[in-house]
Amino acid sequence: MAIERITGNKTMKKVISIGLIGFGTIGTGVIKLLRKNGELIAGRLGAEIRLQRIADIDIRKSRGIPVDDSLLTTNAADILNDPEIDIVVELMGGYEPARTFILTAMGQGKHVVTANKALLATHGDEIFRSAAQHGVNIGFEASVGGTIPVIKTIKESLIANRIQSISAIVNGTSNFILSKMTDEGGSFETVLKEAQNLGFAESDPVYDVEGIDAAHKLAILLSLCYGKKVHLDDLYREGISRIGEQDIAFARELGYRVKLLAIAIRRETEIEARLHPTMIPFDHLLANVNGNFNAFHIVGDASDSVFLYGQGAGMMPTASAVVSDIVDIARDIRKGIAGRVPPRVLDEETIEKIQLMPFDQIRTNYYFRFTVADLPGVLSRISSILGANDISIATVIQKGRMQMQGGGVPIVMTTYKARERDVRKALEDIDRLDIVMGKTILIRIEDDNF
Ligand code: HSE
Repeated sequence: MAIERITGNKTMKKVISIGLIGFGTIGTGVIKLLRKNGELIAGRLGAEIRLQRIADIDIRKSRGIPVDDSLLTTNAADILNDPEIDIVVELMGGYEPARTFILTAMGQGKHVVTANKALLATHGDEIFRSAAQHGVNIGFEASVGGTIPVIKTIKESLIANRIQSISAIVNGTSNFILSKMTDEGGSFETVLKEAQNLGFAESDPVYDVEGIDAAHKLAILLSLCYGKKVHLDDLYREGISRIGEQDIAFARELGYRVKLLAIAIRRETEIEARLHPTMIPFDHLLANVNGNFNAFHIVGDASDSVFLYGQGAGMMPTASAVVSDIVDIARDIRKGIAGRVPPRVLDEETIEKIQLMPFDQIRTNYYFRFTVADLPGVLSRISSILGANDISIATVIQKGRMQMQGGGVPIVMTTYKARERDVRKALEDIDRLDIVMGKTILIRIEDDNF
């Protein structure tokens, strides 16, 4: 079998062989990076990383880099059954056959590196347990935050901490759109189109703009920090497609910026976890993460605030995270150990089932944009319903007689801390009033401790 030696150092004592399943953008990036920095990495590792085989269903398509034909196969089994391969790098994405390939590789005693967030968010528990059972490592740094070392930070650097909270921007596409709406104006639809033309959004954007991708990443973080299983269906998820130009403008006037935030907060007996557009003070670090960047604000009980920022996607940034996992595992292989750092913070034996706080129990501040008939007494009818539901108003804005599409004028209110259940009940009652001319827009506000 042809062997590609990425570094040419003949004095290397050990060679670590990898097999790549999935020759897409990230796979191409991994090969490019190993070629570009292979010698540097080999010097740091004290061993050569050898790319032994690449499997993909399409091995004819040009990836813009020269690859010896003999390295390519359409049959993943050529990698899974190759006794020389130490690490299987799964970069094909999707649930199946990726899940089966990973479990088979582990069953064969091979270590695994993956960037597959959807798979880990739904089958992470099974995969992590399989790694423990077979005494192999699993690296998944690239699955959350692209190049940002958030997994390593939580699992290793912050190991002495109880993680009190994580607030994060984990979807570059949504952040790009919201940043552009904020800085240059424009409706969600117009800016989405621009983002698609620039290649910053997929032609089918649902996964990104409806928060599905971000919810997968939040589920992985939750499982990492707090327990074994989070059902995606139990996570409250709301994307950015309902955010209007006027909400962005009102947010600015109130001193906020709108960001799609993944939030996890440790409460007394439960974890509060949610993913939704959030108004945050304009001077908060997260409010200043713009364009397609990702960022994580992690608060540990000893560390206090830790902030991580970087590219959450892209060929070379993501490849950087994948290769970092390969090197970590290669180091363990050289020492003859595995599982030194378990996939999650908690040891597999002592892991607990995570208890998520029911979403209707969360308490936060709220922004409402009502669309109402401009008549005497409207404000008092709305405020009396809010009062009856234990919701206290903090600010009110009405801009003269600014008309909304379809008639009506906007009235904006922000509240002090209120319970989600009470807010929903109040909005249901308000939206039934004859003076209300459109569905009320709600955006949650985080002012402190996030
Ligand atoms: N589609 C994701 C984003 C990148 O827009 O951030 C891959 O996770």
